[in-house]
Amino acid sequence: MLALVYYSKTGKTKELVDFISRRLRDLGVSTDVFMVKPIRDYHDKLLHLNPRILHESLSGKVISIVGDKGFEPSRYGVVVIATPIWWGAAAPPIYSFIVKYANAVESPVYCVATADLRVDYAVKLREILESHGFRVRECITVRSLKEDADRINLLVNGITSEVKPTH
Ligand SMILES: Cc1cc2nc3c(=O)[nH]c(=O)nc-3n(C[C@H](O)[C@H](O)[C@H](O)COP(=O)(O)O)c2cc1C
Repeated sequence: MLALVYYSKTGKTKELVDFISRRLRDLGVSTDVFMVKPIRDYHDKLLHLNPRILHESLSGKVISIVGDKGFEPSRYGVVVIATPIWWGAAAPPIYSFIVKYANAVESPVYCVATADLRVDYAVKLREILESHGFRVRECITVRSLKEDADRINLLVNGITSEVKPTH
């Protein structure tokens, strides 16, 4: 059993998560998807000018999240975490998820950062996860589903090698 945990504001991370979960379903891996978000989500407009986003992202503020109901770490053989990058950091709902479940997830973790720039944000994301006790197998940065298809496929192969298909 696999858990896929993500946050998405403008849809890119969701598109990636949908792609990965479809692939996993086709390969017979049963997946629970959790979209975590702030109790009070950010306004949709002018995200780059939103002072709350800037403050929460840069200060590493831990916020109250919803969407993780039913996420019991011991149920899952693999956990996949996907987040947009905001101001160089994981989006606050995912950072808060990482802090909330620090040292609670024993299964291997795969993570994906989505971003617009060709910068390898995955290195920092991996460090943050590891410093909170997550056992990171692989962590990648994705700019576009199309351009990064090879890297995404490798990640999916890695994930499926860890879990047993259900059919
Ligand atoms: C407030 C804000 C800050 C961002 N900061 C960065 C950044 O530092 N580096 C980058 O490459 N992309 C940055 N982006 C672009 C997003 O990381 C990228 O579009 C992401 O894939 C969006 O995911 P989503 O559509 O699932 O919300 C930022 C976007 C927003 C809205």
